[in-house]
Amino acid sequence: MTMSLPTPSIAPPDVIRCAYAELVVTDLAASRAFYVDVLGLVVTHEDADTIWLRAFEEYLHHSLVLRRGDVAALGVIAYRVRSAADVDVAEEYYRQLGVPLERRPAGTTRGIGDAVRIVDPLGFPVEFFYDAEHVERFTRRYDVHGAGAISRLDHFNVATPDVPFARSYYEQLGFRVSEDIQDEDETVYAAWMFRKSTVHDVALTGGDGPRLHHIAFATHERSQILHLCDHLGALRESDKIERGPGRHGVSNAFYLYLRDPDGHRVEIYTHDYYTGDPDNPVVTWDVHDNQRRDWWGTPVVPSWYTDASLVLDLDGVPQPVVARSDDRESDVTIGADGFSYTRKGDTDTGFKLGAQV
Ligand SMILES: [Fe+2]
Repeated sequence: MTMSLPTPSIAPPDVIRCAYAELVVTDLAASRAFYVDVLGLVVTHEDADTIWLRAFEEYLHHSLVLRRGDVAALGVIAYRVRSAADVDVAEEYYRQLGVPLERRPAGTTRGIGDAVRIVDPLGFPVEFFYDAEHVERFTRRYDVHGAGAISRLDHFNVATPDVPFARSYYEQLGFRVSEDIQDEDETVYAAWMFRKSTVHDVALTGGDGPRLHHIAFATHERSQILHLCDHLGALRESDKIERGPGRHGVSNAFYLYLRDPDGHRVEIYTHDYYTGDPDNPVVTWDVHDNQRRDWWGTPVVPSWYTDASLVLDLDGVPQPVVARSDDRESDVTIGADGFSYTRKGDTDTGFKLGAQV
């Protein structure tokens, strides 16, 4: 059963894009080795407990915060809004939705101005901010890029037990759907939703939640993703490669999924397509289509469907995880590659992985 939300009396804040994530990590040195030494993210600032990172094209203070803690989890995902006034709008909007909320004065998070942090109706810690400290943009600093250069944060992917509810919540917040996955009964299994003019700022994946499925960074070229694979192989750390490299059906992007030292999943992604026109067509994939998740038909590893990161509430306590249950679904779930086909009407050529749900 899909829940419904009250409709606030004011318009939602004008969200520009996904902006940064904070991950709680248990071994800061190990995480630094992964994110700085392998992925090549730029350290804007660091102290004994926290590292603030950005990619080469980013001029805001950070797009990723690594904070030392006892339990590996998502601390927050943050969206940038269009103006300082939109932070006030966000506060009023979420007060009317009745969710946990805190106003965070400038500097509560280093490099970030006045902000509102909430637990959204899906159970995720989410921040809205406009003001942020500017730092050097390394776009033309080819002397430090390296062969696996990551250019910017691209999107978040969140696991939630009720995708139709999550989709309606984000649509009310002003996000639009670029692509989704449905079955023949129009049950939605996953949806890709955007504010910036790409395929997504946030993807909604059906599964036990609230959990963070992954954060994704963009590169300019496929060669940079392949170099990251070679780099991990040379370090004898190929076990950090979970899935890929490959070509997505959804979004058409070239992808690689990595697991950081705590198991947080990071996607490296290049790249999708422009979606900014008002009549941008929605692409709907059949949940049985073997090429939706991988255009070459490569099976998805089971851990990709089962594993995800806990998320914290505003007091830093892990949110309870609710099992996915949607009685409108058939015995197929989003992970059911056992039922996939490559050509519609062909039930024999798909991969049969058994009960991978
Ligand atoms: Fe992704």
